[in-house]
Formats: sequence, structure tokens, C-alpha cells
Amino acid sequence: MNRLSNLGKDSSRMMVTTVPGIEDIVLKEASEKLNLLESHHRFGGVGGRVYLEISKEDVQKLFKMRSIEHIIQIIDVFTVKNTKGGLDEIYRGVYRSSIPLGSTFRVTCERIGSHEYTSMDVQRVAGQAIVDKYGTKVNLKNPETIVRVDVAHDLCIVGIQLTRTSLRIRYPRAFHHPSALNPVIAYAMLRCAEVQPGDRILDAFCGGGTILIEAAQVWEDIEAIGIDISPKSIDGAQRNLEAAKVKSKVKLILGDATRLEKVLPEGLKVDKAVSNLPFGIRSGRLKGLPKIYSGFLRSLRPFLNETSKVCLLTIHKELLKSISKRFGYEMLESRRIVNGGLIAHIILLRPS
Ligand SMILES: C[S@@+](CC[C@H](N)C(=O)[O-])C[C@H]1O[C@@H](n2cnc3c(N)ncnc32)[C@H](O)[C@@H]1O
Repeated sequence: MNRLSNLGKDSSRMMVTTVPGIEDIVLKEASEKLNLLESHHRFGGVGGRVYLEISKEDVQKLFKMRSIEHIIQIIDVFTVKNTKGGLDEIYRGVYRSSIPLGSTFRVTCERIGSHEYTSMDVQRVAGQAIVDKYGTKVNLKNPETIVRVDVAHDLCIVGIQLTRTSLRIRYPRAFHHPSALNPVIAYAMLRCAEVQPGDRILDAFCGGGTILIEAAQVWEDIEAIGIDISPKSIDGAQRNLEAAKVKSKVKLILGDATRLEKVLPEGLKVDKAVSNLPFGIRSGRLKGLPKIYSGFLRSLRPFLNETSKVCLLTIHKELLKSISKRFGYEMLESRRIVNGGLIAHIILLRPS
């Protein structure tokens, strides 16, 4: 863990939010794209929050990152009690802070841990402190400044939220798949699979095409193939590819991922197979999952070479683990993440 340093005048302390479980990928991406002075991967002891101390000139570069959702410029950090008295500490702490405000503001709070107050209470007292100190008007709907006052266990973090909408929204979605994946997770999966420029990538359960679009937007010269058994998904994915301007890099095929020999040309090899597997919850077909997982991993095997990687998202880790072993795969990595409130696993396999 890196310590929070005393801030030099040319550096900025930032807290970025992400999907819990991929904080290390945020740090990797940040160190590639920014001049990282200090970092802490679970800021305030909370998953999904990463502390980055960066050069002031690099702040704009954060908006180009693919592994994060929100960017908060930290103004002040202080400890608070979890009893009702904590609210007075928050009032005083916010009043003390020098907050660069526009003509209107709103306070947003995310509270993690057990406290005798709610996030609404925090918003109310922090908002009052700002009105009392600066006399600035509140605008809940469209404020010029979003002040974040987060409480993570015994820590209060005061900052300015620089993002209006989550950076997961990267392109207009023409089609909304009911199980659409968060593109931040798609990016993390592609990173786990170590996608390289020039790779051929297969998503055999492509839905609305999130993984294919992420791959095509981030890596140069890749060739992506998407398969789905539902004509509605294939049609929707096509429209999403157009909206994301990556149509020429991706081929879509209507077909069954459990019989890839009937879908893909004989002799074709894929470098990376990356998929968000059907969870069987929304579709109510939990019983059919072993057949889908087995059929997919069995029929995928001939299309892999010895350096290929397979990266899959599932909530049924044990099922996938046992089936992958049976069909000749070795598990290289298993990562627990939080996907829309559900615990899920990113599993990395290679043919053994
Ligand atoms: C979890 S969703 C994928 C969502 C996608 N990642 C997105 O962001 O839109 C799983 C997809 O697998 C497809 N599917 C289910 N069984 C299949 C099979 N046997 N072959 C191919 N696709 C299948 C479903 O139609 C669904 O679109």
C-alpha cells in the first residue's frame, strides 16, 4: 500500500471508482497512461475505490481510462465517528474545507459501513455547511458543482466529482440487451486475457456486443467474431457496432456456441475467447447451464492453439471449474468481482 503523501502544488489527489475486484487493473492502466506519483488500490478500505496521486497536467487523461467509472478530485480527508456525533464532525470538516464551487452545487454521498446516520443525513449537513460558509445555491437537478462527501467506515472523503455520467457510457447504445455487460468489466476481462494488437477474438455469447466493441475500440488491428443464438441479439449487436463505429472490425454470426464446429470454418484458430456466459437467472434456465458450458468448452477446443486464452465471466464458478477440467483446460486465474450487485467470477483458462 502506498501512503497518502503531502500534496505537492503540481499534483492532484484523485479517487476513482470502479467495479469491486478490478482495482489492480485500474492501477495497471493508470501507470501506463499517467505519471503516477502514489496510489492505493482500496482507498478507505473499500473495494471499487482507487486513490491516485497524479500530476495536475494528467487529470484530463483520466477521462480516457477504460477501467474506471467516476473521477473525484479529493479536497479533504478526515476521520468521523459512526455515532450521531459524526454528523457534527462532517459539518465542521466540510465547513473547514476550501471547496472550489461554481454558482450552484449539490452534495452526493456514498456511505459504506455501519453508522447511526444515513447518506441523506450526510448530504443534508454537508450541504448546510457549504450554504453557511459560501452562501452558494443548491441545485439538485443540474448543479454546476457536484460535491462528494463519502463516508467509508471511519473516514470522510470530501471532493469534487469531475464526471457527470459514468465513464462506462462510452458510445450510444442503439440496442439494450437485457443482460448487457458493464464495458468496464469487458475491458477488465480483455486485460486478463492479455489481448494484443492483431489478435483474433471470439465472443461466442456476444449478446449486444459489449466485449467485441470494447476490444475493437481499444486494440489495433484486432479481428473480432461474435456469435449468438438469438437473432434479436445479433441484429441489436450489429446496430451497436455501427453506433460505436467499429463495424468493419467485427463479424457477427447467428449460431449455437455449443456447436462451434457448425458455425466457424474448419482450421480457424482464435487467440482469445472472451465471453459473459449466460447466468441462467434472468432466462430461468439454470438447469440447462451444464449442457451449455460443456458444449461450449468442448466445441471451442479445436479452435484454440497452445497460446490461446479463454476468459469467462460466470456466477457459477464451481460448475465452470469442473467442466473446464473435464474438457482439457487449465485454470490460470479466478477473480471475484461485483457485477451489478451480484458476486461473479472472471475465470482465465488455457488449453492444457
Ligand atoms: C449474458 S448474455 C451476454 C450479454 C453481452 N455480454 C452484452 O453485453 O450484451 C448471454 C448471451 O448468450 C446467448 N446464448 C445463450 N445460449 C447460447 C448458445 N447456445 N449459443 C450462443 N449464444 C447463446 C444469449 O442469447 C445471450 O445473448
